[in-house]
Amino acid sequence: MTDGLPVVRDPAALRSAVARLRAGGARVALVPTMGALHDGHIVLVRAAQASCGRVVVSLFVNPTQFGPGEDFARYPRDEARDGALLAAAGADLLYAPTAAAMYADGFATTVSVGRLAAGLCGPFRPGHFQGVATVVTKLLVQCAADAAFFGEKDYQQLALIRRLARDLDIPTAIEGVATVRDADGLALSSRNAYLSPEERRVAPVLHRTLAALAEAVAGGADTAPAIAAATDRLAAAGFAPIDYVAVCDAETLEPLARVDRPARVLAAARLGTTRLIDNLACLPRR
Ligand code: PAJ
Repeated sequence: MTDGLPVVRDPAALRSAVARLRAGGARVALVPTMGALHDGHIVLVRAAQASCGRVVVSLFVNPTQFGPGEDFARYPRDEARDGALLAAAGADLLYAPTAAAMYADGFATTVSVGRLAAGLCGPFRPGHFQGVATVVTKLLVQCAADAAFFGEKDYQQLALIRRLARDLDIPTAIEGVATVRDADGLALSSRNAYLSPEERRVAPVLHRTLAALAEAVAGGADTAPAIAAATDRLAAAGFAPIDYVAVCDAETLEPLARVDRPARVLAAARLGTTRLIDNLACLPRR
């Protein structure tokens, strides 16, 4: 128990706990997280509760989705704090499996989601989306929830989870939830904790730049010059390197030369040692 919230640590215990939550015909939702919870995660819990009534939150800092030079070792971990926040938000169960429970000796199966994982963050984080797709598939199968909730903040991740659930006939409905932002526009992220005060001041330029880009291309103008202008603006603010600024089809994530269908503007760039990502919807104006 964490402050009144029951905790289970392996798939068998999860299965029996979910069966108990279903007693009386309740629907069950899953909210996968890596902990270090903030209001963005809590909004997912509330959406899950509104839709299903019962909410399981998973907390697992998944080693296979971090590259060798990434922040797995220093990723913030505080299960007691997270458990208290989840209890206050009305979650019903915390699933915090051990690494051994998730990856048994001899673990050999991976899930990869083809083209959706190839662009945008894919080339900059080799193996990341395969790690995400594999762990999310396991969590969806282990929990067998009616619905699972994911943030639009990680838009490429959401798109590939929708795809894998469809492709692998996983009956859990995949639901996307709008990005929660600070008042100055910065998308909430567990990694914002790494920003120095000066970097935190600059960070909202990412959101402002994407908003201006979406506005510039929504009328059907060529995306290439608008992307170049957005990249220059990020560089001038101090982002380096800028991994990508892109305008893509909202579903397939293929790059668009013009916005002639529902699109998404997306960017990833580093501020100091912190890699920030963000994205916004961009609907064609005509
Ligand atoms: P994590 O970064 O902890 O995020 C958990 C969920 O919270 C994801 O669906 C993410 O998109 C959502 N989220 C994060 N910041 C948000 C914000 N500002 N507004 C709305 N939603 C937000 O994403 C992961 O963990 C992992 O890759 C995971 C899916 C758990 C697999 O390991």
